[in-house]
Amino acid sequence: MSLPVSVPDEPEMALARGAALASANAPIFASSIAALAQAVGKATNYAHTALLYVEPHTATLAVVNTADGSVADVRRRFLPEDDDEAVAELVEMVTGVAEMEAHPEGVVVVGSGVDVPLIKPALEAGTSLPVSVPEQPKVVLARDAAPASANAQLLNATAFLEARNLCKSFGRWPTETPILKNIDLRISPGEFVALIGPSGSGKSTLLSILGLLEPPTSGDVLINQKSVARLSRQQLARLRGRAIGYVFQSFNLLAGLSVAENVMLPGLLAGESGRAQYDWAIALLDQFGLAALAKRVPAELSGGEQQRVAIARALFMRPAVILADEPTGNLDTINGRKVIDALYNLNSAGQTIVLVTHDRSIADEAPRLVSLLDGRIETDSGPIQVTSGVAWRAHN
Ligand SMILES: Nc1ncnc2c1ncn2[C@@H]1O[C@H](COP(=O)(O)OP(=O)(O)OP(=O)(O)O)[C@@H](O)[C@H]1O
Ligand SMILES: [Mg+2]
Repeated sequence: MSLPVSVPDEPEMALARGAALASANAPIFASSIAALAQAVGKATNYAHTALLYVEPHTATLAVVNTADGSVADVRRRFLPEDDDEAVAELVEMVTGVAEMEAHPEGVVVVGSGVDVPLIKPALEAGTSLPVSVPEQPKVVLARDAAPASANAQLLNATAFLEARNLCKSFGRWPTETPILKNIDLRISPGEFVALIGPSGSGKSTLLSILGLLEPPTSGDVLINQKSVARLSRQQLARLRGRAIGYVFQSFNLLAGLSVAENVMLPGLLAGESGRAQYDWAIALLDQFGLAALAKRVPAELSGGEQQRVAIARALFMRPAVILADEPTGNLDTINGRKVIDALYNLNSAGQTIVLVTHDRSIADEAPRLVSLLDGRIETDSGPIQVTSGVAWRAHN
């Protein structure tokens, strides 16, 4: 495909994963794991098999159709730090499997960094469905290049995002003005954090530093416990493209490209273009009810539609984290609500979201609220506890 691609100064690589994952279909989930669930389904004559994919910090439960590998329903949960609580969470997921779409007839459990046989008895106690643990899931996985996880096709990788004693000043000594002052913030996979504060308090500055769009003056940004301070510009750009989806207040869609091409842009910038990328863009647009608009240009869309295209684009590279800087700032209430709902849908499927907003009612809904005042964190309602890795979970 040859597209007129102009590269913005800061190639914006927002983007991520599917909102209504329940609607996600076969091609998207056509990973080896879905194939595994399909194989189990065929061997056991199940029409639908529930696949529970357990990672140290998250668990994904997907109902896979044996006939075509399509996904009828997906749920994703963050696992608590405490080992027993995490197992209880998994048991709860499995207990709810009967209410999932398509009524699966059995559960297959696959883990990554997790000793699944150890938790199998607890899972079996939680459901009347037969629970099976394939003997050599690693071998099955290895056959497919990509998947480090069942949801490699569907869900992003997870990441811890951390600011340590972050300071940012603008201007040069002796007239430099401190904007961010000793910010410490740790955001875990699956969190939904609303960031509020008066105009000028430093919200956008903090978000763009967390998004690796600009460096701090001092202090550090860490992704998965690794400092980004020593990365080259190229490494930073690559990490930003893969790990972070950025949604701007002003949409930042390219006027000369179609809606679908805008969504694919992060892939094009990363040298990936083709049928698979186009199909993924359409699948993402579909999740926001925009597939029919794929061939239009941004000017032919409403503000709310444009912003949802921007979110679809931010999801394109399946980033670990979505950073959204006042994504409803230019929208009316109804369109703003649609955008916020889209973000919550993503979050309930496991996507980490950091949302800057001036709207107190939107902020008050968020599970975690962080307020900035004059460049400092004024209040933080507190992080979700994260696992340190125990017993059946590998350290990572
Ligand atoms: N590139 C820059 N050069 C100089 N000062 C800057 C720069 N960027 C931001 N500032 C200043 O830093 C302060 C914080 O700006 P920032 O955009 O982070 O605020 P904000 O909390 O996002 O505000 P708003 O709610 O109005 O978007 C402001 O006083 C702003 O003028
Ligand atoms: Mg701002």
